Amino acid sequence: MQADNVLIRLQKLQDIASINGGNRAAAQPGYQASLDYVRSTLEQVGYAVTIQAFPFTSYEPIGPGTLSALAPVPANYVWDEDFTYLSQTEAGDVSAAVVPVDLALGAGNTSSSGCEVEDFAGFPSGSIALIQRGACSFQQKAENAAAAGAVGAIIFNQGNTEDRMGLMNATLGDTYAGGIPVLFGTYALGADWAQTAGLQARMVADVERSRTETHNLVAETRRGNPNNVVMVGAHLDSVGEGPGINDNGSGSAAVLEMAVLMSKAHPFNKVRFAWWGAEESGLVGSTFYASQLADEEKQRIKAYLNFDMIGSPNFGNFIYDGDGSDFGLQGPPGSAAIERLLGAYFNLRSKPAEGTEIDFRSDYAQFFEEGIAFGGLFTGAEDLKSEEQAQKFGGAANQPFDPCYHAACDDISNINTDSLELHADAMAFATSWLSLSTKIIDDEIAAAETAAQGRAAKQSVRNVERWGRYFIK
Ligand code: BES
Ligand code: ZN
Repeated sequence: MQADNVLIRLQKLQDIASINGGNRAAAQPGYQASLDYVRSTLEQVGYAVTIQAFPFTSYEPIGPGTLSALAPVPANYVWDEDFTYLSQTEAGDVSAAVVPVDLALGAGNTSSSGCEVEDFAGFPSGSIALIQRGACSFQQKAENAAAAGAVGAIIFNQGNTEDRMGLMNATLGDTYAGGIPVLFGTYALGADWAQTAGLQARMVADVERSRTETHNLVAETRRGNPNNVVMVGAHLDSVGEGPGINDNGSGSAAVLEMAVLMSKAHPFNKVRFAWWGAEESGLVGSTFYASQLADEEKQRIKAYLNFDMIGSPNFGNFIYDGDGSDFGLQGPPGSAAIERLLGAYFNLRSKPAEGTEIDFRSDYAQFFEEGIAFGGLFTGAEDLKSEEQAQKFGGAANQPFDPCYHAACDDISNINTDSLELHADAMAFATSWLSLSTKIIDDEIAAAETAAQGRAAKQSVRNVERWGRYFIK
């Protein structure tokens, strides 16, 4: 694929963001316009497009929040320095006593504050819960607090390591149902408050949250075996903070360009393209799609290829660690073959690549849960490029792969065209390979089934031996 052609599509997404308030976030006008653009582009080359609606909770900050200590010593804390919103917080304005919940301060701590219902034993109803990050989701902590009668919650960073001190952009998740406002604070704020006796505070979340719906877009090649489907997906929504051109206009535009090119191809297997909605709100669209598939439908999908951020300015070439060799967690059977296939592409082009962790931060998560083989590419986000990675990939060490990750500056200038071209070609290579044959995946699935049968047979021998003790005298 030509980076220039992908760039034309990316520029279109940039223009859409620019005339729609600077973003393409789920359920916002910029997302609807992005969806219309992908739809009309596909229809022009003959695809039948399916728009799939799914329920979703839209969330929008209206203004900055407020956090102040009322007693024993009044103090006002600074928005975006000391605290911020946890996305999907409920709106509210509450003043109450602040009560710490099972905190574990200090370097190297293994806090599981607020993860267990028992953490709230004796928690005085009507208070604000002071909770520490760690061990379970923000959603779980906040919902436990709400169930214990908290009127608000402050979750502060864990402080176990240097990179878990400050503020972060995190979400309670689209399904957060605690009904109370939740702010995120720095470790310094939390540690200070943990040691303040008789603390009373006021917290305000000025946000709007409402139950609505948004959409995925799915289209597939007319040709190809419908019982052997290769899926390729990218999330089309951005965060509210910016136009989302690298995250994930890059994946969306490359999949679109490939779909247009493939409208003339003759695949043996069906290739199904998906543009997901509300990924940034908690993988909502892809989770809805994959979890509502009937069993027969699920079995027809041989592979899911995910493309989320493929044009990072200071890029690295990352392939999801399908075989678990780098991070220990293996994908469903077939995922190792996909990792090898993508690895072979980088080898053929004499380009370096390395594994990246299956961390459930993108749309492959529900495919993994459903047991569907998956793989994909990623060129890096907020993490810093190491010295070693800079040697290997070029670019700047000790700088983020994408300095504009989830920020307003993730615009058309935030794209590395070498990365875009290299990874768009990798996408085309793996997709065309699998569109002709999924044997490498089928073989791995068959081997996993044989191994499972072997385990079941051994288990039944063990059962016979065990029961034998009782029944055979
Ligand atoms: N493109 C990112 C995924 C990503 C970022 C993967 C950094 C690995 C490292 C994606 O759009 C994203 O931001 N995902 C959310 C998680 C989701 C459950 C809301 C995230 O990582 O914060
Ligand atoms: Zn993304």
